[in-house]
Amino acid sequence: MDAFIIQGEKELKGEVQTSAAKNAALPILAATLLFPQKITFNNLPQISDISFFKKILESLGAKFDSNSVDTSDINKFVAEYDLVRKMRASILVLGPLLSRFKEAKVSLPGGCAIGSRPVDIHLESLRQMGAEITLEDGYINAKTNGLKGKHIYLSFPSVGATENLIMAAVWADGETIIDNAAFEPEITDLISFLKSFGVKIEGEGTRQIKIQGMKKEDFKTVENFSYSIIPDRIEAATYVIAGLITNSEITVNNCNPGHLDTVINTLKVMGAKLEVGYSSIKTFKSGRLNGTNMATSIYPGYPTDVQAQLMTLMGLSFGSSIVSEHIFENRYMHVPELNRMGMNIKLDGRNAIITGVDKIKAAPVMCTDLRASAALVLAALVAKGETKISRVYYIDRGYEKLAQKFAGLGASIERVKDV
Ligand code: UD1
Repeated sequence: MDAFIIQGEKELKGEVQTSAAKNAALPILAATLLFPQKITFNNLPQISDISFFKKILESLGAKFDSNSVDTSDINKFVAEYDLVRKMRASILVLGPLLSRFKEAKVSLPGGCAIGSRPVDIHLESLRQMGAEITLEDGYINAKTNGLKGKHIYLSFPSVGATENLIMAAVWADGETIIDNAAFEPEITDLISFLKSFGVKIEGEGTRQIKIQGMKKEDFKTVENFSYSIIPDRIEAATYVIAGLITNSEITVNNCNPGHLDTVINTLKVMGAKLEVGYSSIKTFKSGRLNGTNMATSIYPGYPTDVQAQLMTLMGLSFGSSIVSEHIFENRYMHVPELNRMGMNIKLDGRNAIITGVDKIKAAPVMCTDLRASAALVLAALVAKGETKISRVYYIDRGYEKLAQKFAGLGASIERVKDV
């Protein structure tokens, strides 16, 4: 297991490139199961969640050749526990497998321990479309005589359930309407990908998505097809917060600021000086920011995936802040670690009450989930002394070349072997 050693109190400067979005790449990789042809990606992020997901697709019979995949020869419909347990997003193979092959067996997923994260909405909606689903020995067994288009109302606009249903609807008979759908930018990207193959979809960016099921005879191979995935808004936000927390001037390039409106507004309310361009965000030296209150919410609200990073900034701001986490019930695992470094954060159910301190000190800390780990890196960048962050494999799941990118901005960060 590797660790990061970070010497704090270094000013950052320069530019950093945003990578492609993990949360768009995963469902789009799952969607390759729908079409029997070669598909090339221009910018798959080099992160371990993508490597895991490729392994799952390979175990089903997909053939990868560098950044191309061909799912013409899928010959297995079982996503095994050993692969799936590492990542909740594995559930995304269920919809496309059922749609194209009429059967799927997927281990109940694992992933970061940030909450119980059931998949009831996925399963209930697929049942409405005509899937017979049973749970046995930790596996979801699903089969169908052919999915049927239905009008489905989601009890909660789950990102994964919306994606699974959109993919399930591609080869279903007739029209599927998803009401109370999630409309995160990553879902819109999945829809753009599907549209490239002639799937008729309306309503992206709204709470109602309509998908017309395709007929096999309507499918035509798209020659030399390549696809570019949208930039990772969570990664971009993490670097913007890094610029602010270190009181530095940095430019985060190749991002889509339009996907970060709520984060940018929250930072501005705190006093952040930012220059928002068409595809870049520049931070200016803004000094110590002011605390504020923030509640996570579904898009376009404040993203839960940038909660931990913002809390780190709040922990060093003037006055007090309150964060309310409404998406996941156990997403405060960074709090004890940040407190070990000298922050003053108290938990009360879904709320975190943060009393800003003016400095923090290095301490050995441990990653517990992907975004909590990013928060620890941010804290280490400003802490006095040398911070050792253990178990950085959590960071590898979702941040491409994080140590290199921060080193490029002038941070003192080194990856070492840990026991
Ligand atoms: C996706 C993102 C994740 C992000 C989250 C919320 C990917 C690969 N991951 O996760 O980074 O934090 O959206 O923006 O895109 N729920 C149920 N039943 C279900 C489905 C969900 O109760 O069937 C609950 C979950 O437990 C959770 C909440 O709904 O509390 C949100 O989950 P969901 O929107 O499905 O998130 P994911 O797709 O897992």
